[in-house]
Amino acid sequence: MGAAEAYNPNPIEGSDPVSRSLNEFYQELSPSNQEPYISLRIHLIRPDVVPSVSFFVKRGKRFRIFRDAKETFAASEIQSLLDAGIEKIYLNRSDAGAIRQYLEVFLQNSENNEIVPMEAQVGLMRSAAVRMTEELFDNPSPENIRKGMKVVSGFVNLLVRDPKAFYYLIRLSSHDHYTFQHSVGVGLNSIALGKKLKFFTNEDLAELGIAGLLHDIGKTKVNPGIINKAGPLDKNEWEEMRQHSTWGWELVKDNKDVGQRAKLAILHHHEENAGGGYPHGLMDNQISVFAKIVTIGDIFNALTTDRTYSKAKTPFDSFKLMQQVMMHKLDKQLFTELVMIYGGKLE
Ligand SMILES: [Fe+2]
Ligand SMILES: [Fe+2]
Repeated sequence: MGAAEAYNPNPIEGSDPVSRSLNEFYQELSPSNQEPYISLRIHLIRPDVVPSVSFFVKRGKRFRIFRDAKETFAASEIQSLLDAGIEKIYLNRSDAGAIRQYLEVFLQNSENNEIVPMEAQVGLMRSAAVRMTEELFDNPSPENIRKGMKVVSGFVNLLVRDPKAFYYLIRLSSHDHYTFQHSVGVGLNSIALGKKLKFFTNEDLAELGIAGLLHDIGKTKVNPGIINKAGPLDKNEWEEMRQHSTWGWELVKDNKDVGQRAKLAILHHHEENAGGGYPHGLMDNQISVFAKIVTIGDIFNALTTDRTYSKAKTPFDSFKLMQQVMMHKLDKQLFTELVMIYGGKLE
């Protein structure tokens, strides 16, 4: 799955200086670029948190060491470079991964947010989430699940601070692999719905987010031939596909990092309000709020995303379809809340 995502040279939306500089950096990571050094705009460097890699300055055609990996970086050095009219600093291509991680993790922290505009933050989060979700579905190990939780708490922090970021986050995902779009999209819908209900703490929202992110993790155990089949599934294939919620629950049930409510939501995300869902055929009040939230976020995200067998519908058409033929699966109140969120009423 790792190679499935096409190289996207401009993953960050926004035309502010930070977004542009980030896109420049990502562009330099393109596989077609064979240069041994990669440039980074100096204003992306936070001396206190930048990883200890060696930095170089360019003099004519030569690169001279500016800071050795073992030395610390002082804010005054950055200023002296800027004063000298130097805007870019260089690093070894082999250190690009560490810097990329720094950009994706540190720059989205709350204390830095005054220097990073929201669109750039959202782009960074998305970029980190793409890679994290791919790793997660390649190998749903406890370590990768923990990485997923970090990304989810990043989403929660951003959404609590700035609810409008939700609209940027959901808008940004259209170029990515379905697994990413769907898992992250369901995580985001779940957080937004939870937030709208007002009786959840931030920890609850993070648990909702991880439930959404992991809801289909059991599909990693389904035969890939079935997952990727273009046509409709036959009876046996469908039988195997329906195992994914139970398999997902089995994957996480002993994981101490994942909360009990998230585990149950994974197990029950195909239960239906009027009964008749799987695996247990539960009904309305037998299904947890967490599971109901993930279910509705799941259905809505699937309808609004391009899939192998159907084109993405607009939110409006999706809501119409849900109301006409899917209400027996859903909790009515949650449905109303989701319509309001997509109608622009987050609060
Ligand atoms: Fe599912
Ligand atoms: Fe799903």
